[in-house]
Amino acid sequence: MKPEQILRGLKTRSFGRNLLWLEKTTSTNDVVAELALQGALEGTVVAAETQTKGRGRQGRRWSSAAGKSLAFSILLRPKLHADELSEITLASAVGVAKTLEDFHFKPRIKWPNDLLLEGRKVCGILTEMGPKKDKMTAVVLGIGINLNQGARDFPKELGGIATSLYRVSGRKVNRALFFQKLLLHLEDAYHKVSERHFSKILAEWRKRSSTLGQQVKVAQSHHVFYGHVVDADEKGALLVRNDLGMVERVTSGDVEILGSHS
Ligand code: BTN
Repeated sequence: MKPEQILRGLKTRSFGRNLLWLEKTTSTNDVVAELALQGALEGTVVAAETQTKGRGRQGRRWSSAAGKSLAFSILLRPKLHADELSEITLASAVGVAKTLEDFHFKPRIKWPNDLLLEGRKVCGILTEMGPKKDKMTAVVLGIGINLNQGARDFPKELGGIATSLYRVSGRKVNRALFFQKLLLHLEDAYHKVSERHFSKILAEWRKRSSTLGQQVKVAQSHHVFYGHVVDADEKGALLVRNDLGMVERVTSGDVEILGSHS
């Protein structure tokens, strides 16, 4: 795709105004981190058809089908503390959800950053701190979303857990149009965070959460426990009541949904 196809009709103030569309790169998150060091502006977007080192959370790989999905990263320069990064992640998940709803899908958000359709993952978000050497704080927001892949485009091991808009609806979406709407929703969600209106995001997140009220297994690097999800707090951390009745704040790790609380 050519950047002009996106820029024509793009309604954002800054997101995507500076847009680099690459055929192939290692990881768009790394390219954006590099551009941050060179002083790139907030809202700079790097997208790639193919990533040779696309990565997800917890060191997992992210593979995206060229021409059928979107893999991109946005440079942010927020005035937030590192522990407020979750706010950006949750806000971005809400932005993606609203875009999917514009296209008549009914997404659910699995904390913190997975977008699900019919219980399968359609989008992942990886928020990373930018390079330490950077004088201005940078955050790299990386998003991978499955649009037009058919069942055969997914590796066998992902077939049962991943999906695309095409697999769900049987219809192909216009990637440029989807991307334009997505950038606008992401910018809007990000502004709510930077203007300290995270409570609005939280309300939107609660409405779409697949995690609230569920029994879960939380796996963190040195701590695994079971509990019941009671809420997310004003910083975007998940609040889980453990078997001892104590509420633990979860800001990292994996959350596996075991079922509804009875
Ligand atoms: C996850 O679900 O674990 C997050 C996946 C994030 C994938 C995107 S694709 C664009 C950007 N570049 C990367 O290397 N990762 C993110």
